[in-house]
Amino acid sequence: MKRHPVTAFIGLVLVTGLLLPACATAPPPGAAARPATPREVFLNKCSKCHPAGKAYAIIHRRDLWDAQVAVCTSHDPSWIKDADMKAIIAYYEDHPQVLARVFNRSCGDCHQWAKLRELHKSGTQWESIISFMGGMSGTMMSRDEAELLCGGLTDP
Ligand code: HEC
Ligand code: HEC
Repeated sequence: MKRHPVTAFIGLVLVTGLLLPACATAPPPGAAARPATPREVFLNKCSKCHPAGKAYAIIHRRDLWDAQVAVCTSHDPSWIKDADMKAIIAYYEDHPQVLARVFNRSCGDCHQWAKLRELHKSGTQWESIISFMGGMSGTMMSRDEAELLCGGLTDP
């Protein structure tokens, strides 16, 4: 990895507090002929009242996940049907692979996951780092993917 003026850039961002607005979510993928994946059900159903990404802070804990999905489902059971709730609960299993894929594609050419985790930065810090580093790999990152990375890199 070669040295790069990007650190100064990050410094500037952190000092000036030029932050992105907090996490918002991308629309779910368009209607498809195949059945929706658990992640698609999650993105669709859980973004009605707040960004689905609100959930990334708790998805590392099975008990918190199950409980919050149940609480939010009870806010609008006609919107989140039983089958949706089951799919969303099951998304817990897929989330680590989704996170690894987004990280590898967006950051993994230049950074190691464990090393970044050791920095113990706050969610707000990660948000601004990701918004500037997100384009470094030359690939696009959706808002939801940025939130997902932010949630994964931030200490619970
Ligand atoms: C009908 C509206 C609605 C839907 C749909 C909804 N939520 Fe929520 N969600 C809320 C409200 C209101 C709050 C804040 C109060 C609360 O925790 O009940 C909230 C809060 C949260 C929180 C933060 C809890 C905290 O302690 O700060 C998480 C995480 C969350 N929702 C996840 C989800 C997930 C996952 C889904 C999909 C299953 C979902 N929400 C769907 C209304 C909704
Ligand atoms: C194309 C290579 C590249 C990609 C992709 C990339 N970065 Fe970086 N990143 C760098 C370089 C170069 C630096 C500056 C390193 C230095 O000067 O110490 C840096 C610095 C950082 C720092 C500051 C390191 C520290 O010790 O404080 C963080 C945090 C960071 N990157 C996170 C990320 C994240 C998160 C992603 C994915 C969204 C990402 N980077 C994508 C090359 C990259």
